[in-house]
Amino acid sequence: QVLVCVVGARPNFMKMAPIMRALQDVSHLIKPYLVHTGQHYDQAMKHTFFQQLGIPEPDRDLGVGSGTHAVQTANIMLNFEPVLDEVNPFAVLVVGDVNSTIACGLVAVKKQIPLIHVEAGLRSYDREMPEEINRILTDQLSDLLLTTERAAEKNLLKEGISADRICFTGNVMIDSLLNNCKQASPLQKTLDNYACTQTVSENEYALLTLHRPSNVDDQSTLVRLVNVVSDLSKKLPVIFPVHPRTQQKISQTGLLAELHEQRVILLPPVSYLEMLGLMRSAKLVLTDSGGLQEETTALGVPCVTLRENTERPITVTEGTNTIVGTDPIKIMQCVDEILSSGGKSGRVPEYWDGLAAQRIVAEIVRRYLPGN
Ligand code: UD1
Repeated sequence: QVLVCVVGARPNFMKMAPIMRALQDVSHLIKPYLVHTGQHYDQAMKHTFFQQLGIPEPDRDLGVGSGTHAVQTANIMLNFEPVLDEVNPFAVLVVGDVNSTIACGLVAVKKQIPLIHVEAGLRSYDREMPEEINRILTDQLSDLLLTTERAAEKNLLKEGISADRICFTGNVMIDSLLNNCKQASPLQKTLDNYACTQTVSENEYALLTLHRPSNVDDQSTLVRLVNVVSDLSKKLPVIFPVHPRTQQKISQTGLLAELHEQRVILLPPVSYLEMLGLMRSAKLVLTDSGGLQEETTALGVPCVTLRENTERPITVTEGTNTIVGTDPIKIMQCVDEILSSGGKSGRVPEYWDGLAAQRIVAEIVRRYLPGN
């Protein structure tokens, strides 16, 4: 029985890796067929992740690349449909909330193939986020909804999804983190890899990532954030791996030179093991990523989220995350608190224990391959 598994963009890879591994234990029952849509295609955004996470080469690469949302989503759909005709799966499994997730989900459901959504039910309640639209629609289409935190189930029930389709299995991103923590790149090795000559010590720097359209596509917000980063670097060095989208936008502002003058270390997108290492030994992390909010909670590192909301509330209620938005004063207040008192300490949420993928595979077997 074939299970089509879909990845497309960077945050999908670390979610799929443990699922592919757990599927090996039931290889007599399920044959995974891995499709990469090609939404992310650069060496730094794709290949190193496959290698480091031990994900098998995709059975099919749709090679769709970048485009507007409509172009990208439509191209994925057009290219994905014939794959389903060819391999005739018993279900399609998608992860997360990127354009590849909704595009492949929609194709599957129109062909009456059950859709399984890993990381279902997260809601920021901010429809200006493209991912929020992807999340709501994918969940409405899904036959089996697998959740990472209890709040997700409440969100789904409110949207009329029946309880028997929802299963709390835990966080596969944390499976990957726990599997790979020992191999994380030490700070100095990462800095050497990018020929960085500045001196930075463990636990004495801030790690920054920025890529949300709401932060980087709007010039005034981006300039405000770059100025805060510049100020922050007067307190401690800032390591900033720059996403391709952000690279393009910052170049347009002409502010790159200003960052270079400060203690801001600009890196290209780093590998998974480098990112784990950079997070683990950071004094604090500033980010607008969803994944980093969860990873810092699992690692116990204070996280300052540069957004007005989060779809991952458990990182705030139980973890090390604080939502501050993009107001420079609030950001600096939060950072100062962390620098003076060590910041928020938290605990690791329920089922963020390295076993989520195994629970997911067990649930798939129970539902779709009864009697096994
Ligand atoms: C996508 C996801 C976002 C996720 C992020 C992680 C959607 C709607 N957004 O955003 O949820 O957090 O990935 O990275 O699916 N580009 C390259 N090389 C690549 C890929 C992209 O240079 O390999 C550049 C292109 O100019 C492209 C831009 O980055 O236009 C944006 O890429 P896209 O896949 O549209 O969205 P992301 O911002 O990466």
